[in-house]
Amino acid sequence: MEADLTLRPRSLADYVGQEKVKEKLAVYLQAAKTRGEALDHTLIFGPPGLGKTTLAHIIAHEMGVNIKVTSGPAIEKPGDLAAILTNSIEEGDVLFIDEIHRLGRVAEEHLYPAMEDFKLDIVLGQGPAARTIELPLPRFTLVGATTRPGLITAPMRSRFGIIEHLEYYTPQELAWGLTREATLNGYILSEEAALEIGARSRGTMRIAKRYLRRVRDYAVVAGEVDISRERAEKALDLLGLDSAGLDERDVKLLDILIHRFNGGPVGLDTLAIAMSEDANTLEDVYEPYLIQLGFVKRTPRGRVATVRAYEHLGLPVLHYEEEEF
Ligand SMILES: Nc1ncnc2c1ncn2[C@@H]1O[C@H](COP(=O)(O)OP(=O)(O)O)[C@@H](O)[C@H]1O
Ligand SMILES: [Mg+2]
Repeated sequence: MEADLTLRPRSLADYVGQEKVKEKLAVYLQAAKTRGEALDHTLIFGPPGLGKTTLAHIIAHEMGVNIKVTSGPAIEKPGDLAAILTNSIEEGDVLFIDEIHRLGRVAEEHLYPAMEDFKLDIVLGQGPAARTIELPLPRFTLVGATTRPGLITAPMRSRFGIIEHLEYYTPQELAWGLTREATLNGYILSEEAALEIGARSRGTMRIAKRYLRRVRDYAVVAGEVDISRERAEKALDLLGLDSAGLDERDVKLLDILIHRFNGGPVGLDTLAIAMSEDANTLEDVYEPYLIQLGFVKRTPRGRVATVRAYEHLGLPVLHYEEEEF
């Protein structure tokens, strides 16, 4: 985890991939700086580990301002929000709210005037003597990150001027990120090794970097300085990753879907119980990649294993009836 802190790219130029997002952000950042204004409020969508937090830090760094980090669940009372906005935010600063979909309703409503008019309504006193005062705030940039775009309310969403969606990385992009990491750590990762790790990392930079650290452990123990393709392959096999980067849990999900539920359709909750897994984790962590690979489909009647999944697991496609969906 410390690696996350020290090696996070600090500028857009060091941020691998996400070309469209970077291209647009570069313009918005430049324009805001030219006008001498804070960047518009920015909402970043994307599955875990794709670089939302990193991008929030980059935005602050590129704007030359400070960033204050908090999260939806951490803001419980309206007072929490008032404390952050009045004590730790200065003109132009970035307030980063991670997991913004988990912000409570009351806190969210207090955030609206803060985002729109840079003011907070604060109630002083109680009962008949209570009065509301309007507290002016510095112009700040709210950067919100979420893995669950569907849970962002329409009024919340409409208050963001910039909304960007991060995409899964290609193996090549992951390889570039890994090569950078290896170089910064002073060792050599062969291009083929980087690609091999990239191909098995579910399109996710955080996972790729984690696998790289494990692969490196094996190399170090084997007394090797540089990391070859063979070393990477062996280590990844030992980690229990198959050629598509599926781990034991992914394979278990497919196995349950195919063998216990006849390939589906089966509801998310039922599948979660069968996996002894939390439904949110299933939906946020396991499913997106299986869907991305085309192994699982979401249908109105539930989750379905596709022909590809059967083929990947080397199973005969017996009871698969695509027409039905
Ligand atoms: N585009 C990128 N280029 C290089 N490294 C990245 C990129 N995106 C993410 N990372 C790295 O991947 C890890 C996870 O990124 P993070 O921003 O914490 O993801 P998220 O907030 O979306 O879960 C961090 O170590 C980060 O430095
Ligand atoms: Mg994050």
